[in-house]
Amino acid sequence: MIPAEPETYTKTRAVQVFRQAVQAIVAREAIERQVATFASRLRRDEERMAAMLGRPVRGLEMLEVGAGQQCERARYFGQCNAVTAVDLDWIPRGSGIGDYLLMLRRNGIGRLIKTAGRRMLLIDRTRRNAWARAVGSRDFRDPIMMQGDVCSDPLPQGMFDLVMSWSVFEHLSDPVAAMRNAWHALRPGGVFYVGIHLYTATNGHHDFRYSASGDDGLPAWAHLRSRTRQLVRPSAYLNEWRLDDWRRLFAEYPAVREYLEDYGQSEHLKTLLTPELRAELQHYDDQELVTVDAFFVGKKPVEA
Ligand SMILES: C[S@@+](CC[C@H](N)C(=O)[O-])C[C@H]1O[C@@H](n2cnc3c(N)ncnc32)[C@H](O)[C@@H]1O
Repeated sequence: MIPAEPETYTKTRAVQVFRQAVQAIVAREAIERQVATFASRLRRDEERMAAMLGRPVRGLEMLEVGAGQQCERARYFGQCNAVTAVDLDWIPRGSGIGDYLLMLRRNGIGRLIKTAGRRMLLIDRTRRNAWARAVGSRDFRDPIMMQGDVCSDPLPQGMFDLVMSWSVFEHLSDPVAAMRNAWHALRPGGVFYVGIHLYTATNGHHDFRYSASGDDGLPAWAHLRSRTRQLVRPSAYLNEWRLDDWRRLFAEYPAVREYLEDYGQSEHLKTLLTPELRAELQHYDDQELVTVDAFFVGKKPVEA
């Protein structure tokens, strides 16, 4: 699963590390709130998975695609399941120097600075403590890690009851191949759960210079408007797929359910859509402009 020349997902964002460090020191409460929100959204995701599976998310073999450096969701599900995580980046699980040297070799200096910086500044520990309080347990377990490209490196076939992913598919050069790969990794009766941060969301540009959520400092929907597009500097590769592109992809799979989340922001966002701005954004409809995340959940037929 190791690509010959892996491309690291994250460009150097030392500024972001230091912003997070300051946040960890002066705004512990903000981190507590952030993690509590994260945990409650994850419980909602878990309910949707259980509804599609027809049983609780317990005792399962699970795979998370693009788990990220902190693996927070994989660790959450690891409480009651066996979780494997695949990511393009090398994700060090110990604190050994060897792990970091591997990370430097495979992911580059930017990724190393960000991850080591987070650990030295105790951001990860602050978040872990916040997770323990949000979930009422410290019984988190790290996933088994694989490094690889979900678009091109074959996943273990027919091995998993659940394949899940959050905020990854919008970064993939070939989501069709990735989804085919994920489908083959499922056992018959297995479920996939894919969450996508929509490109057409007001912060779908992934420019995090101004805030961790990317929702201030730039004009609304700056990346979709010809007059403001040049202000945007995405922090990662984006395939720029729109809601209909995702719907077409998931329509290839049986009985897929779709959930759209605006996190209570849609009324506020609609007030920003002045007639002038609507004219600039005439090629986008309200639904894709106010949706933040789209989720697709489907089940592999038992007879497949
Ligand atoms: C925006 S982060 C999301 C991380 C995590 N899922 C979360 O929501 O916090 C995207 C993750 O996808 C990974 N990724 C990007 N392209 C990938 C690929 N082709 N195969 C596997 N992982 C990939 C990145 O390395 C990164 O960890």
